[in-house]
Amino acid sequence: MTDTNVRTVSVAGNRFAVYDRGQGKPILFVHGFPLDHRMWIAQLAALPPGWRAIAPDLRGFGASGVTSGTVSMRQMADDLAALLDALGVDQPIVYCGLSMGGYVAWPFWKQHGRRARALVLCDTRAAADSPEAAQGRKKMSEHVLRAGTSIVADAMLPKLFAPASLERLPEPVERIRETILATDPQGIVAALAGMAARPDFTGELPNIRVPTLVVVGEHDSISTVDEMRTIAHAIPGAQLEIIPEVGHMAPVESPTAFNAVLVRFLERVG
Ligand code: MLT
Repeated sequence: MTDTNVRTVSVAGNRFAVYDRGQGKPILFVHGFPLDHRMWIAQLAALPPGWRAIAPDLRGFGASGVTSGTVSMRQMADDLAALLDALGVDQPIVYCGLSMGGYVAWPFWKQHGRRARALVLCDTRAAADSPEAAQGRKKMSEHVLRAGTSIVADAMLPKLFAPASLERLPEPVERIRETILATDPQGIVAALAGMAARPDFTGELPNIRVPTLVVVGEHDSISTVDEMRTIAHAIPGAQLEIIPEVGHMAPVESPTAFNAVLVRFLERVG
């Protein structure tokens, strides 16, 4: 079914699909890898009145156009700033990104920081890839080009969801699997190269001077609680929230708990 809140915008030499609903203070939801804006479905539905929800598909994902080669996190951050311009968003936004959406938050903050009034960093990392992790992404790129996206779905799903969620939540797991299967292999490969090349942002965390919420699933195996705690400690005044019994996809696995934390934070910064 077509979502009438999703429109197509052409900026930065590319076509972007973007969910845009509501009026008021803007909040930008930036999805993880290899997903699209629909991972935020439970948050988009629960946003209190007075907020405008903007949730794009990043370059190479969902219904947005694909660029082959490498798509850097900086490119994605610049895409988001261009999209906000095109949508006429002139108020500062709350930036809410998960995992790769968090990797994009760092260059967004560096290059377009005046646009952000607050940050919500979910299940993400500030460190760069280790050489082994970057090598792993290269291998995955080779596999996906040879064998298609099912390789990525099979590799990622057990990391994205906590083991108990894989059993307990067949529908959300299936929805995420379908999203991955439908993603263009070139988009996946370009983002893998971009993530492998992303710089370390750890040393810059103390310079973040806007209200920041750091959220992590208790059993996240990609961005662990310890790593997220370190990020929260490094950002002055940041608040850390741990969502019990879930993994990397905290907003999907436990939308009620996640939304409660998010809405409380929005009340504070709004
Ligand atoms: C994500 O959820 O965006 C990915 O797990 C990020 C990554 O592969 O490092």
